[in-house]
Amino acid sequence: MQEITIHDKVFEPYITEEQINTRIDVLAHELDTSYRDASPVLISVLNGSFIFAADLFRKMTVPAEITFVKVSSYSGTQTTGNVKELIGLDYRIEGRDVIIIEDIVDTGITIHALLSQIKNRQPKSIKVCTLLNKPSRREIDVPVHYAGFEIPDRFVVGYGLDLDGLGRNLPHIYQLKTEHHA
Ligand code: IMP
Repeated sequence: MQEITIHDKVFEPYITEEQINTRIDVLAHELDTSYRDASPVLISVLNGSFIFAADLFRKMTVPAEITFVKVSSYSGTQTTGNVKELIGLDYRIEGRDVIIIEDIVDTGITIHALLSQIKNRQPKSIKVCTLLNKPSRREIDVPVHYAGFEIPDRFVVGYGLDLDGLGRNLPHIYQLKTEHHA
């Protein structure tokens, strides 16, 4: 596999399509086992998680449902920085078992905002499932119940993840090449 360049940045292969596929088989099986007597609702966070969510969802065999939301960020008037707002949750989730599907949990700010807004709708349970987890970047402590891969603090693209809009359609995950690796 070769290095690729996006917006003048060089990325090297990191997690192959095959490794992703094998890991998602395991995650889908874990979810099937945890939810064997239930019918969960997956809430996929756009844009980044749409490919992961589609692959995971297809591999699950319990009678699951799926819906999609976006999280907007706008500059708040307070000095606390960005405020995140949940957009597009038009699905009835009251009393349901909800699984949030993310591409990556980085600072935790997005998941934190999602959890508090989804909890307001009074689901029966909420779990977080992410393809990638970067624990060393955490600014807010958030629960991650299911994670595909724990990765170090390196920017990644591919398999849904982007750099300024590009890279989402790459089948493998690539990481930004740093000078130590040059
Ligand atoms: P958080 O709110 O900091 O946890 O960030 C979550 C969002 O930031 C993810 O859903 C991604 O869209 C984006 N993000 C964080 N790290 C990366 C990365 O390495 N590559 C691409 N997007 C990322």
